[in-house]
Amino acid sequence: MELKDVVKEKYGQAALRVNAGGSSCCGAGAAQDGCRDPITSNLYEASQTGELPQEAVLASLGCGNPTALAELHEGEIVLDLGSGGGIDVLLSARRVGSTGKAYGLDMTDEMLALARENQRKAGVENVEFLKGEIEQIPLPDSSVDVVISNCVINLSGDKDRVLREVFRVLKPGGRFAVSDVVTRGEVPEGVRQNMLLWVGCIAGALDDYQYVAKLAKAGFEGISIEPTRVYNIADARAFLTEQGVDVDAIAPQVEGKFMSAFIRAVKPLSAKNETCCGPSCCGPNETPKE
Ligand SMILES: C[S@@+](CC[C@H](N)C(=O)[O-])C[C@H]1O[C@@H](n2cnc3c(N)ncnc32)[C@H](O)[C@@H]1O
Repeated sequence: MELKDVVKEKYGQAALRVNAGGSSCCGAGAAQDGCRDPITSNLYEASQTGELPQEAVLASLGCGNPTALAELHEGEIVLDLGSGGGIDVLLSARRVGSTGKAYGLDMTDEMLALARENQRKAGVENVEFLKGEIEQIPLPDSSVDVVISNCVINLSGDKDRVLREVFRVLKPGGRFAVSDVVTRGEVPEGVRQNMLLWVGCIAGALDDYQYVAKLAKAGFEGISIEPTRVYNIADARAFLTEQGVDVDAIAPQVEGKFMSAFIRAVKPLSAKNETCCGPSCCGPNETPKE
């Protein structure tokens, strides 16, 4: 099975569990039904989740709270990569107000259906959920002020392409404001190769210095990585056991090496997108192909 199919299947099932009245078993509301996940639980303040449909809260599968840390202004266009049940899109939509707009992008049909239903329940109009892949964002060049994401980029098998796409859709001066799992130091190869772990946010995570290098290569500046939760062995044990991994075998090599972090970067004001279709069809920030 392709990595993307595994990811789709896992998150499709999580969406269906929420639809059936349960929790995704990793979400912000997970403590309510006995699930304990050190990565995805307790990410949002009650004052934030109180204004959302319960299903959006139960479907939360992030590893941070980008809406609490991102700078968002009235009238801005926000894009959430891998929007899941829509929690961060709905929160962002309120922050940018009726003159702004929040897009959610996700490739999993069940998650998109759940997110659209949550939008209907929340009665928020300045939101649009798009079907597509973060490696090929279905939005025009220089059309977005802020790209947020919550524990999704680590799932991609082509992170360079994702970051190039983010750079393309951001306006000059636009911000990358993303929560993600990053590793610190070497993660054992056996862990990296385990697809289930990958889906669960660990083995696909970039090392912090790699993340910085990839952002710089894509053209970003003002790059910073701020740890928001560093996981200890006890946290790793609970999480990895849920994935069916022999924790005792790998725990000593994992200790202190992975964390949730908030990653910031800016597309330079002077940035030109590298490609466009020809001299007569370029936007204001593009360079025509020779
Ligand atoms: C860990 S969940 C996070 C969902 C949401 N951001 C949240 O905080 O609850 C990952 C989501 O990203 C989506 N996803 C994963 N890889 C993707 C890709 N390459 N393109 C589009 N969506 C993707 C999945 O379908 C799933 O809904």
